[in-house]
Amino acid sequence: MKVTRVVAGAAVAAAVLVSLNATGAPAAPVASVAPVAAAGQDAAVQGGNADTLRALAKRAGLKIGTAVDMSALNNDATYKDRVAAEFNSVTAENVMKWSEIEPTRGVLNFGPADQLVAFAKANGQSVRGHTLLWHSQLPGWLTEGVASGDIDSAELRQLLKQHVFDVAGHFRGKIYQWDVANEVIDDNGQLRDTIWLQKLGPGYIADVFRWAHQADPKAKLYINDYNVEGLNAKADAYYELVKQLKADRVPIHGFGMQGHLGVQFGFDGRALQNVQRFEALGLETSFTEVDVRMLMPADNPKLHAQANGYSILLRACLLAKKCTSFTVWGFTDKYSWVPGFFTGQGAANLLDENFGQKPAYQAVKETLALAG
Ligand code: G3I
Repeated sequence: MKVTRVVAGAAVAAAVLVSLNATGAPAAPVASVAPVAAAGQDAAVQGGNADTLRALAKRAGLKIGTAVDMSALNNDATYKDRVAAEFNSVTAENVMKWSEIEPTRGVLNFGPADQLVAFAKANGQSVRGHTLLWHSQLPGWLTEGVASGDIDSAELRQLLKQHVFDVAGHFRGKIYQWDVANEVIDDNGQLRDTIWLQKLGPGYIADVFRWAHQADPKAKLYINDYNVEGLNAKADAYYELVKQLKADRVPIHGFGMQGHLGVQFGFDGRALQNVQRFEALGLETSFTEVDVRMLMPADNPKLHAQANGYSILLRACLLAKKCTSFTVWGFTDKYSWVPGFFTGQGAANLLDENFGQKPAYQAVKETLALAG
């Protein structure tokens, strides 16, 4: 499959040259492909529709994924059909996080996550695990116990170790990539000042990778963060951290770039250089949570700039040698996390709130078609 990608690399490279502008201004159209299925057509009903993102990604040798909102999956038939039809990889948006799995200490609830894994199996999809260690969405009993002093450093380390073995062990053999450590460096390039660093010291990062590898030797283990898609102080800090982890023979396999972009910030056109330097360390890479938000209301220039943002990251992935998956953080504006977190911003996804295809969807499709 790599041969296909390498052969097409020249075509994709040409596209990269056309569209790699850092301002997010609308790029010249790269290439037109047959009009895609009209918005709202249920691609899944069409069976093996060759015109879906997953069909095109398969030809390019790439996992194309989406974060999945389990409430939408269970209550919105169009959402469910499009997850199955368009993607060959899924990530649990929330249901594999510590607060969702163990809201009560010692009582583990894998139900919703198991449902996603079963859905993926039924639809021939791979599963990205997200996330074993993070400073957010921790259960209240843990954060309150640490704050009160009821949980000391030794107990906290044991709780973290148990959590990694509980979760990675439960899904052993079912997860192809785990986001083992999420957002451990701050935007200044320093280790993020979390309870993990404060109580356990910097060695906690190597610990969680070693525990995850013991719990699931086959999963590819990723370190994952946002604002590390281009060349900057944070990405540089990860480069040094990963180099040290590899030198210490820590079982780390992948660098995950979340890809939460904003039209108003412009785009760093050096994504390929960044990907290539991590691959030179012996890692595979993935874009793990891509969305491109904008100041509302949406308009045509913003929507075309958004399409360019998605294309820049996808082309970097396709031109790299070991970029294995490209996951969007939700695919429809109907269920995006953005409006709840960034007041006055939204429209971050490939499809609008009525599952209509936006320029970004077309751009992703055209880029995948070029690479296939
Ligand atoms: O599950 C509870 C529910 O029981 C409760 O009734 C409800 C109202 O308070 O909250 C629900 O939890 C919410 C959770 O999503 C599940 O829906 C949390 O409040 C809400 O904060 C949480 O937001 C998630 C956010 O991470 C938390 O920081 C978003 O859905 C999710 O898309 C977002 O994803 C993160 C990645 O994991 C890591 N990278 C950044 C990305 C965006 O922040």
